[in-house]
Amino acid sequence: MLSTNLTSATAPSNPGEKRFLEVKDSKTGKIIKINVEEGNAIRSVAFEQLDLVCLDPGFMNTAISRSSISYIDGEKGILRYRGYDIEELAEKSSFLEVAFLLINGELPDRNQLNLWEERVTKHSYLHENMVTLLKQFRYDAHPMGMVISSIAAMGTFYEDANPSLQGSDLFLKGADKDCVKVDSLRFKQIYRILGKLPTIAASAYRHRIGKPYNNPVNNLNYTGNFLYMLDRLSEVNYHPNPVLARALEKLWIIHAEHEMNCSTAAMRHLSSSRVDPYTSIAGASGALYGPLHGGACEAVLHMLEEIGTKENIPKFIEEVKQRKKKLMGFGHRIYRSYDPRAKIVKKVADEVFQVLGKEPMIEIAVELEQIALNDPYFKERKLYPNVDFYTGLVYKCLGFPADYYPVLFLIPRCAGWLAHWIESLEDPEVKIFRPKQVYTGIDHRKYVPLNHRKPAQANNADALRSFISPMSKRRSND
Ligand SMILES: CC(C)(COP(=O)(O)OP(=O)(O)OC[C@H]1O[C@@H](n2cnc3c(N)ncnc32)[C@H](O)[C@@H]1OP(=O)(O)O)[C@@H](O)C(=O)NCCC(=O)NCCS
Repeated sequence: MLSTNLTSATAPSNPGEKRFLEVKDSKTGKIIKINVEEGNAIRSVAFEQLDLVCLDPGFMNTAISRSSISYIDGEKGILRYRGYDIEELAEKSSFLEVAFLLINGELPDRNQLNLWEERVTKHSYLHENMVTLLKQFRYDAHPMGMVISSIAAMGTFYEDANPSLQGSDLFLKGADKDCVKVDSLRFKQIYRILGKLPTIAASAYRHRIGKPYNNPVNNLNYTGNFLYMLDRLSEVNYHPNPVLARALEKLWIIHAEHEMNCSTAAMRHLSSSRVDPYTSIAGASGALYGPLHGGACEAVLHMLEEIGTKENIPKFIEEVKQRKKKLMGFGHRIYRSYDPRAKIVKKVADEVFQVLGKEPMIEIAVELEQIALNDPYFKERKLYPNVDFYTGLVYKCLGFPADYYPVLFLIPRCAGWLAHWIESLEDPEVKIFRPKQVYTGIDHRKYVPLNHRKPAQANNADALRSFISPMSKRRSND
């Protein structure tokens, strides 16, 4: 057994006084002292002195870096980007302004914002081969698959931005390097990604509906241009509805960053190998796609469709409590009270409903929320609606198909990922991510030649035989 002692732990009276943990291994009697660093952090590597490893599936209490990009207080329901409240940013800023803030640490002044917008906008056109690539997908390809593959493919267009070709320290600064050059190389990739992503996403959408892709235009803002690329048919001077464009912009602001979630950790994980940012973003997008993360929004909609009517809610809640179902759009690893973004989405929903009419499923969602919030099962576990609970309904009302919701999450989240990419490049503590495992397999055994082996005792032997389609059986000569 280990015993721990937090010496001068509870609020050291003298600010200069060092706080440390004293850990004793009851087996060996060895005692180690571990410094408590800024942010109440201790280094797990210290436990190596006791020949121990910290096992933390799901990173329940492991910080992978220090970060100054966003802050969450899960108990109070606070989310801030670089110190600014999310509510204020959603109300007063544009998406590109927020992207500038996240990536550069400060809000831009007028000139900086103009330059930033101009640079991003100027990078919104796609190479014709990218367009050809997008056109090769099946007519019904999931848009996330199209977008993720296209982002990875984007990297192949920029040899100058590939550390595998140019050297592993391509994006790093150093004594012998021109830092301005490194910064501008980094910014070039940021402009390309922020600029082209909406074009790729809009092309994936148009592909699904069998319409020719629209080229971007420079006279609309970020979300306005996106809606233009989605919706313009033959109109010469098509302009998206400004209320809807602003509503989408608010949703994108609140989705832009959310500290060390699954996809952002993936972004940092991939970047730690020094791979190019396109590959890192494609990997992070893959993590985002999962139904427990960015895919939850799509899952909420399917859940509401399955519930169908208000009368079916109590039965559904019972099934959740019996663990037969999950209440999608509820619960969060960090928020233990209301997700502040969910409140903003509710307001945005009203703005959108005023233009397009109320989405009928909202009634089921509101009732479901009320019932869950008053049920001891959800109360005890501190399960509240998260950002995805209402976002899907807004997107449905805006006419987006459910499988497109993760794409609408991915586009803004790229701003946050890029901020983490830059922060990790600047972090002197960054090392390649290489977690440990606790090995539970067979220690060592002798190799048996193929002809002498008994059938493997695979616990999924039947599964090996499955997935043989009738067509394959027909073609088989056995
Ligand atoms: C977000 C999420 C993955 C967080 O997971 P987590 O931090 O690992 O939390 P846990 O899964 O340990 O949940 C703690 C408890 O609440 C329950 N719980 C959590 N989310 C729940 C949900 N959406 N519906 C029903 N029960 C839920 C768990 O079953 C667990 O109960 P137990 O202690 O009796 O076993 C999880 O809440 C979830 O799957 N939510 C639905 C998907 C979703 O909306 N994702 C978007 C997040 S922005």
